[in-house]
Amino acid sequence: MKNLKLFALCTAVVSLLTLGACSDEKGEVKLSAEQEKAMSERLAPAGEISLVGEVSNAPAADSSGGSRSGEDVYNTSCKTCHGSGMAGAPKYGAPEQWTARLEKGIDTLYTHAIQGFQGMPPKGLCMDCSDDELKASVDYMLDGSK
Ligand code: HEC
Repeated sequence: MKNLKLFALCTAVVSLLTLGACSDEKGEVKLSAEQEKAMSERLAPAGEISLVGEVSNAPAADSSGGSRSGEDVYNTSCKTCHGSGMAGAPKYGAPEQWTARLEKGIDTLYTHAIQGFQGMPPKGLCMDCSDDELKASVDYMLDGSK
């Protein structure tokens, strides 16, 4: 009887300890699950943001790639040579230097701007320029050289 009481007490103590340990453990697990959840919640938007960033970067690059005006492209890429007439480049604002070239037809000039022509480097060295942007910059130069 005494032993049984002792046994019961021991069991109670052990189960209290176990429960305590369990609940401690449970608390820890729950906390880390919460942390994990919080972490993944924090990470998820970050992932989304970086994904959106990538996605929005691509169209941004595309749209800047597709929407630079002829003037922008001219100023960034063509002016170096065509502004000064360097290396025999027909000069911007000098109609007489363009007359003979214009006689080849605008499509030839576009093609030469895109593919290069003698001293004229392909794409006027604007390697990320689209054909349309190059055409626009040719138009811009021709407009300014009438
Ligand atoms: C490194 C100097 C250089 C740059 C940069 C340059 N060009 Fe030229 N470009 C030339 C030279 C030199 C010629 C003359 C080539 C020849 O007739 O021998 C020329 C000629 C041209 C012609 C006339 C081609 C023909 O068939 O007569 C066009 C059009 C042209 N460039 C457009 C552009 C455009 C558009 C850009 C900018 C996107 C550009 N170039 C950038 C040097 C340059």
